[in-house]
Amino acid sequence: MPFDNILCSVAGGIAHVVLHRPEKRNAIDQAMVDDLHRALDGLESDESVRVLIISGAGGRAFAAGADIAQLRDRRAREALQIINARLFQRIEDLPFPTIAAITGYALGGGCELAMSCDLRVAGRSAKLGQPEVGLGIIPAAGGTQRLPRLVGLGRAKEIVYTGRTVDAEEAERIGLVNRVVDDEAVLAAARELAARIAAQGALAVRLAKVALDTSSRTGHQTGALVEQLAQAVLFDSQEKLDRMGAFLERRQRRSPAGNEEPAE
Ligand code: COA
Repeated sequence: MPFDNILCSVAGGIAHVVLHRPEKRNAIDQAMVDDLHRALDGLESDESVRVLIISGAGGRAFAAGADIAQLRDRRAREALQIINARLFQRIEDLPFPTIAAITGYALGGGCELAMSCDLRVAGRSAKLGQPEVGLGIIPAAGGTQRLPRLVGLGRAKEIVYTGRTVDAEEAERIGLVNRVVDDEAVLAAARELAARIAAQGALAVRLAKVALDTSSRTGHQTGALVEQLAQAVLFDSQEKLDRMGAFLERRQRRSPAGNEEPAE
């Protein structure tokens, strides 16, 4: 399917979307938003997809934010259409895990997009931040909600109020990214993580995501209820019977001196 401002591919259960507007540091404009929705339509209905990786073309930026030229002309009516917030919520709600592979700038909407993914792998060049208040607006595509969940309220307030950028090392230390590697290794690290996730029970991973996100959004009581229901569904699943059966068979076949790997 042809797109204007992204590339999209699927191989071996791993989907890869590249934000592709390198001459504008992959700034997220309406055409890119439309492309992403169309790509997600396809990925959501593709049962082979187990993990999605999102990265930016050109190496200098994951995404330098929403397109400021378009933002300047938007008024309250457009803000209420929550164009980017709706897209990022859709990404957070995808039924499979998502990984942002970040090199260079992830600012404004770029940082918000990365935070709507389940995991973030960053290159040493990564610079994340929410510079919106410097432009007279706030991070309103989920930034004021997801940033404090990841780094805590005090750190989120400092980052938002000052608009300062956070480098890769600090981002890892405060939990804004999961791991930092050399820039050249970012995609390989994201793929390695994706492959490891894709090797697990698909339904189990999916329901683990639902339980974790429910807890984060609504708190322990509802989260714990969803956790119990998810486990009940999994206990009756073929996936669980197959995977536990295979583990026990491997142990039975093991020689007395064998070194059976633990189940992961
Ligand atoms: N919206 C629209 N265009 C953007 C953009 C954005 N968010 N970020 C970068 N661009 C464009 C620039 O206007 C420039 O276009 P031009 O070549 O037609 O003039 C091009 O991308 C390259 O940007 P440039 O600033 O020359 O690149 P750089 O590598 O020196 O700096 C940044 C990169 C990200 C530090 C800088 O572009 C920047 O500060 N961007 C805005 C970040 C921001 O405030 N984002 C939040 C938006 S809510």
